Amino acid sequence: MKQILITVILCATVLIALRLTTHKPEPKSTVIEAIHARRSIRQYKDIAVEREKLEQVALAGIAAPNAMNRQAWAIRIIDSKEWIDSCTEAFVAQVKGTPLGDHLLKPDFKNMFRNAPAVIFVAAEPSNYAGVDCGILGQNMMLAAHELGLGTCCLGSPVGFMNSEEGKQFLASLNLPEGYALQFAIAIGYADEQPEAKPRDTSKIAFVE
Ligand SMILES: Cc1cc2nc3c(=O)[nH]c(=O)nc-3n(C[C@H](O)[C@H](O)[C@H](O)COP(=O)(O)O)c2cc1C
Repeated sequence: MKQILITVILCATVLIALRLTTHKPEPKSTVIEAIHARRSIRQYKDIAVEREKLEQVALAGIAAPNAMNRQAWAIRIIDSKEWIDSCTEAFVAQVKGTPLGDHLLKPDFKNMFRNAPAVIFVAAEPSNYAGVDCGILGQNMMLAAHELGLGTCCLGSPVGFMNSEEGKQFLASLNLPEGYALQFAIAIGYADEQPEAKPRDTSKIAFVE
């Protein structure tokens, strides 16, 4: 009788242990958390970003999926205050008195890269899908930066300036491969604001039956 009881208890213990191991709670998905917690940051602390972190961010960028693994992109990282300030000076001279200038040149304006201490430029080869590849690369970099405690803001507005007469010397200094076109910039640094999430329109998503 005692032996039967021990056998039953042992079997029950094994079954419970098996159930516990096969029904583990869902692991926390840090990627999904990061996707939802990321915000565009437009105010940054006056703290330089460590080059190791910038490099980690760039490496996360080029780990992105890309068409036929052509890697038809180029990344240029600027963390020189002199470069950022001198580019900003030329930009301000161009936009002062225009609607864009009125929108950007507020009292808290520090530089044209949404006041960030560093900026990452992304350029694409003129080939099919290279723009898509760069977009995915950009999101990889912004999520990696988020995980490293950095804020970012994807910026399209500097592209027009960099391609203009006043901006072309700054574009040239990026030393992009022949024919590559600047797609966007990513402002990056330690966030000095915590903006609320901007609402998303979930009606954009539909299952097709
Ligand atoms: C291609 C692209 C270009 C953008 N250009 C600018 C820009 O020039 N200036 C800016 O402040 N934000 C820019 N943004 C950031 C968007 O305004 C921002 O992602 C959007 O308002 C949603 O806010 P969230 O990123 O905080 O979710 C750009 C974003 C993308 C993807």
